[in-house]
Amino acid sequence: MKGIVLLGAPGAGKGTQAKLIASRYALPHISTGDILRSNIKNGTELGSLAKSFIDEGKLVPDEVVVAIVKDRLAQPDCKEGFLLDGFPRTTEQAKALASFATVTHAIDIEVDADEVVKRIAGRRMCACGESYHISTHPSAVCDKCGGALYQRDDDKEETVANRLRVYFDQTAPLIDYYRSAGVLFKVNGMQSVDEVFGEIKEVLDGND
Ligand code: AP5
Ligand code: MG
Repeated sequence: MKGIVLLGAPGAGKGTQAKLIASRYALPHISTGDILRSNIKNGTELGSLAKSFIDEGKLVPDEVVVAIVKDRLAQPDCKEGFLLDGFPRTTEQAKALASFATVTHAIDIEVDADEVVKRIAGRRMCACGESYHISTHPSAVCDKCGGALYQRDDDKEETVANRLRVYFDQTAPLIDYYRSAGVLFKVNGMQSVDEVFGEIKEVLDGND
């Protein structure tokens, strides 16, 4: 049973690696960012609450995201394991998670601050969830569904600066939290997508 948490700054490649991990290990990929963005797109009450925080690069309140994840992990497809991308992001969220699920691997994708800014600035998204990059993974339209590519609203320069500040203040302390719990694994994110995934596979295959 694998309970995986992906840590790493905005733009480190969590979503990119999560897709590869979910497919190889047949785990449900749970991205709180994707869930919140789909609520914004569908005009739900949760979406309108989340939008005000996301647009400023702030975190959505802990109780809101904890409730989303608790509910999602109670679904039958999470019985054999799960892969969390973008959650937890605060110590409070990590403590709440520990009360209803077991984390076996917290994988920290380490990338320099300059590189994450470049990755975010060049990112282009498809509505189906695929992510592209104007230099490292360019495409005119989505390879998977043919959809039009767009830039995420919170990928503007001012918002990115806030997201990075929030990451260092509130999320980076989770590295020590999971180190103390004995489940922290660091991978070098300053490599190609395939090379990063290679390191992640070593972590996951070596620790069942
Ligand atoms: P979220 O959607 O989680 O965004 P994030 O953490 O800022 O991370 P990103 O999705 O920007 O980056 P990523 O690490 O997934 O990188 P990606 O693979 O796309 O959260 C958004 C907002 O929602 C938050 O700011 C907050 O407001 C709210 N929220 C979400 N969860 C919350 C929570 N738990 N609590 C409170 N609020 C929450 O890659 C980036 C780019 O780089 C892509 O273009 C990709 O193609 C490229 N790339 C990836 N890997 C490589 C590589 N190895 N080499 C070169 N390019 C690469
Ligand atoms: Mg992401």
